[in-house]
Amino acid sequence: DNSATDSKDLRAKLVLLGDSGVGKSCIVLRFVRGQFDPTSKVTVGASFLSQTLALEDSTIVKFEIWDTAGQERYAALAPLYYRGAAAAVVVYDITSPESFSKAQYWVKELQKHGSPDIIMVLVGNKADLHENRHVSSQEAQEYAEKNNMVFIETSAKTADNINQVFEYTTPPGI
Ligand code: GTP
Ligand code: MG
Repeated sequence: DNSATDSKDLRAKLVLLGDSGVGKSCIVLRFVRGQFDPTSKVTVGASFLSQTLALEDSTIVKFEIWDTAGQERYAALAPLYYRGAAAAVVVYDITSPESFSKAQYWVKELQKHGSPDIIMVLVGNKADLHENRHVSSQEAQEYAEKNNMVFIETSAKTADNINQVFEYTTPPGI
């Protein structure tokens, strides 16, 4: 069937990268199930989930999501998941400068070894903890611009901007 609507339906393979504890699994859980788990367990290896999303222009996108493990012992596995990914969501925690440095490490890694046309989204998560903020929005925004990334702050806890993260991973103008 080549009808205009069907031909607009898309699949998007995406990967989440970032330090352990920044909230990658919670972001995915919020997006896929609409839930938040305050006792979320560390991810072992990686986990796979899929979810469809209708964009504003009614395009249906099926996201195939690889939620990677942020603990250092799993770092060597990451290329298995980001290779061939159309988009990468690089997450840090706005209360943790160390996690922002780690996000920059992942961006460099993707620039070196990811697909040349990969879409990268920089996500500052835990925006609900703004009273304990240690990474300024301006610093992250400037870093994102320099590296051709979209930047957004989210909260998996309150659901703020979670769907937008996934919308941003779809190519513009589809
Ligand atoms: P790894 O699997 O080890 O890489 O960690 P992760 O990035 O998947 O972290 P995870 O999603 O498991 O979340 C770690 C902790 O942060 C959990 O206690 C979550 O409940 C908490 N958390 C995640 N997102 C948020 C958020 O937006 N706000 C707040 N306040 N806590 C969050
Ligand atoms: Mg996890």
